[in-house]
Amino acid sequence: MIVAIDGPAGSGKSTVARAMAAREGLTYLDTGAMYRAVTDAALTRGIDVADAQAVSELAHAIDIVLDNGADGPTVTVDGQDRTRAIRTPEVDANVSAVAAVPAVREAMVALQRKAAESADVVAEGRDIGTVVFPAAEVKVFLSADASARARRRAVQRHGGDTATDANATANAEEQAKIEAELIARDKADSTRETAPLKPAEDAVRIDSTDLTVDEVCDAISELIAGARA
Ligand code: DC
Repeated sequence: MIVAIDGPAGSGKSTVARAMAAREGLTYLDTGAMYRAVTDAALTRGIDVADAQAVSELAHAIDIVLDNGADGPTVTVDGQDRTRAIRTPEVDANVSAVAAVPAVREAMVALQRKAAESADVVAEGRDIGTVVFPAAEVKVFLSADASARARRRAVQRHGGDTATDANATANAEEQAKIEAELIARDKADSTRETAPLKPAEDAVRIDSTDLTVDEVCDAISELIAGARA
């Protein structure tokens, strides 16, 4: 069983995919974390993210391991824990350039398919239903208004939990800045040539703007039950 969840930044993919993994006994696969790990490695080694050749050599050379521990998912690169390091605003600002390099994507897609060889997975990303797992039994394209997505990200940055507090508010100025960054990243991710962010033709679209995490998960559980029947 493969459940594919694609969508723009901040649409709730991670929260929903992790909840679905727990609900349905699936292995959680955060493909964005892989592109972030390559970006973080480039930044820490002084490699120019605009140098496609150097970035793709790096992507093939490093050992990225995603693990789902009891305390949540972790990311190690060459044995070093980079779980937090891959979530900085600097990585946010540079990851689209890295993810646009075809040879980087080839390396990451191979890792993603390998992870699904021996487990049932719920994978989240941008091209899961279109490129990575086109035969996935369940495909969801999760979206939300840009302002809702920016608010959630701003709340999360300050340690808030948008899953348990749907009405949490954020500083207006910070939220506006995050919204502009999200929109720029989505534009870069949807207009690139290789595997752009777009819904698969057979994906079920869910707009999470006015839905709780549980409501989104209930809808996906129904799709999974339908696929299993
Ligand atoms: O989901 P995220 O914000 O952690 O993803 C980080 C970046 O990685 C995102 O801007 C685009 C890229 N990405 C991708 O190109 N393909 C995927 N399957 C997942 C993420």
